[in-house]
Amino acid sequence: MDSKYHRTLSNLPLGEFRYYEKIGSTNDEALTWASKGAPDFSLIIADEQTTGRGRTNRKWYTPPHSALAMSLILRPSTIEKKHLSRMTGLLALSLADTLKNFQLDPKIKWPNDILLKGRKTAGILVEPSWLGDTLDAIVLGMGVNVLRNSEPPADLLSYPATSIESELGQPIDRDKLLGDILKRTLEWRTRLGEPIFIKSWQAYLAFRGKRVQIEDQNHKIVIGEMRGLDSDGGLMVKDERGKSITIRFGEAHLIPLE
Ligand code: BTN
Repeated sequence: MDSKYHRTLSNLPLGEFRYYEKIGSTNDEALTWASKGAPDFSLIIADEQTTGRGRTNRKWYTPPHSALAMSLILRPSTIEKKHLSRMTGLLALSLADTLKNFQLDPKIKWPNDILLKGRKTAGILVEPSWLGDTLDAIVLGMGVNVLRNSEPPADLLSYPATSIESELGQPIDRDKLLGDILKRTLEWRTRLGEPIFIKSWQAYLAFRGKRVQIEDQNHKIVIGEMRGLDSDGGLMVKDERGKSITIRFGEAHLIPLE
């Protein structure tokens, strides 16, 4: 497994690579490594996580031999610092393109879940690392349910879940999946500031044009029609009185109402 990953990754312009059979959380490890000087585009992969984290401190399930748990460390350029709010989109878009290439029909449930047939297959957790008031690094974490065994048990479910294997009807190689995702991340990274980035991200949005309920970061409930993404990756909604509202990235919960 480890050596297979090394072979796949040897053709990519990575910073450094660390692989763990078992770890608490790759994001925690990445934040520590970033503070100790990890070079740009360094990658941590774990076969199993014991304290994997999701948004709003939810647990993220990563049993051995079946999931992809990765954290990428970026040393942001000036333009990337300007587009910090597009970073979740960077991984979401790269994974969605990869899944589409497997003839699947991925959707992005804003802001950071990837769905297949309406069920969650992957989640993204972006965490900045600050040195005083300077953004020093960005950790992009992603967990993907690759094989059937990685689908979380019912008591850990916050949303219906599935895996790539369940939807494809056959298993896929985790190392091939990782290589494909990283290639696209490298490509989309160079286009982060371009209008095509938002356009492509928006093309995968789940529930676009549908009636949704969203709890924003201030716990305010908004009900309305989902319109799309603004240039910062914020979610544009037309509320029930016809007023246009943009929900910024935060701890939003989104529920489709139809
Ligand atoms: C979510 O759906 O709330 C986001 C889940 C993010 C999980 C990934 S797995 C790799 C990385 N390490 C973690 O502890 N979390 C992220």
